[in-house]
Amino acid sequence: MGKTVGIDDMAAYLPKLYVDAEELAKERNIPPSKITKGLGIERLAIPDAHEDAATMAAMATLELMEKNDLSPKDIDFIEIATETSPDASKPISCYVQGMLEQIYGRGSFDHVGAPETKFACVGATYALIDRLAYIASGWNRAEYSIVVATDIARYRLNSSGEPTQGAAAIALLLKEEPRLLAYEPEFTGFGTIDDRDFFRPVESKTAVVDGQYSIGCYLRDMRIAADAYKRNMVKLGVLKSLRESVVEKIGLASFHTPFPKMAQYAFASFLIHDWRGLPKWKKIIEKIGPEPSREGLSDVEFYISEEYKNFRRKFVKTEEFQSEYKSKIENSLIALRQIGNSYTASVWLGVESHFETRNDDLAGKRFGIGSYGSGSSAIVCSFIVQPEYKEVVKKMDLMRKLDERQRIPIDVYEDLHEGRLKLHESVIPPKNEFALVSFGNKSYDYGYRYYKYIT
Ligand code: HMG
Repeated sequence: MGKTVGIDDMAAYLPKLYVDAEELAKERNIPPSKITKGLGIERLAIPDAHEDAATMAAMATLELMEKNDLSPKDIDFIEIATETSPDASKPISCYVQGMLEQIYGRGSFDHVGAPETKFACVGATYALIDRLAYIASGWNRAEYSIVVATDIARYRLNSSGEPTQGAAAIALLLKEEPRLLAYEPEFTGFGTIDDRDFFRPVESKTAVVDGQYSIGCYLRDMRIAADAYKRNMVKLGVLKSLRESVVEKIGLASFHTPFPKMAQYAFASFLIHDWRGLPKWKKIIEKIGPEPSREGLSDVEFYISEEYKNFRRKFVKTEEFQSEYKSKIENSLIALRQIGNSYTASVWLGVESHFETRNDDLAGKRFGIGSYGSGSSAIVCSFIVQPEYKEVVKKMDLMRKLDERQRIPIDVYEDLHEGRLKLHESVIPPKNEFALVSFGNKSYDYGYRYYKYIT
């Protein structure tokens, strides 16, 4: 038996601005219910002119350190996962180190390891597993490591991806004997396929996406990873055979959520696959009819076929689906409906949303994670909620931050989106926060980003 390692605490950062989804829909001549009900998004978090993925990551890390009374010497690694880094060479983690040293003193973090990890939205889950393995190996020189997920999801104006934009960061504190979530490394399953569903060429500020196709890739990779997770559970005797249900072993879960309806698609696919061999499945298909045939279709073609979508629509209306969904998934979406996509941060914000909004006792429950990143890869893994988790949850305040934001009109949002506001023209001028204040313009620092903590 190896060491118990996992997540001790988490701190989320949200931009203070948002766009109302209904207002955006009206402006784009889309029925508002398509965004609010069809996709499940109510508000989109929008970064201000002085913010980028680095400032958001620094803010989340600072809050995490302050609320846990940590000093730089307690930290072994600050590893940051992002797919919207402002620099193609310098890791965002080093910019964050520099910002933190404005608070803790120059050179105070010079002992840390500080890499940046990239794999679209699944990057933070990869970074987390790497760091936890390092702690479990005993190679760490300080008690804590921090993994930060930070991203700004941006698509072209007027595109079908536009309503799924958003932004956020979340910092995860990792250690041995954690107070919140203990990792179960032995079950972790991966599913990786070289694909083109979503990518962002280095010269572009917005992603190129094949929307429906990306949904198929998400469901395909998640199934491969879930199968691997289940096989590992069988190998280790938690399940007696592959015919048993894995979902019954999971108390609650968070999926990567580019838009909340996607978590419903993912959980429905999960259950259809998991329940197929069980007696209850017979009753379900008596009610909704048989699953459509896959013959002649690739996995992705099948998952985005009208026949499969119709079958899934009927399945999600069943009592059996609804009761599992309400007890295991729904609370993760309370915060995510108000944020939009935040790429790497999304699945972890879903975890915090569960913790802050559930009143039942979660101690001892298995917490499932379904993490997906385009390009493409899925990770299915799990944690056990620790007995003292409530003490940690008391100091979480994502829900308060969601309520304290300012709504901006569509023309202001478009100015921010298109970079028409200068760094000093923020809608809410920075106060007690890190801000991007200037760009280098000499031959030796052309384009370098200068950050400052503004009091
Ligand atoms: P779309 O194709 O316009 O939407 O955009 P749709 O036609 O699929 O409709 C969505 C839902 O709205 C459906 O619900 C419709 O029925 C419903 P369902 O039937 O499936 O339950 N609907 C309505 N509901 C109420 N009132 C109405 C109405 N009209 C329709 N009037 C799409 C959706 C996701 C394609 C688009 O937003 C997009 O391209 N988004 C960006 C890509 C994306 O988010 N992909 C998700 C999977 S890939 C991923 O998660 C990775 C990612 O995060 C990146 C990374 O890894 O870095 C993106």
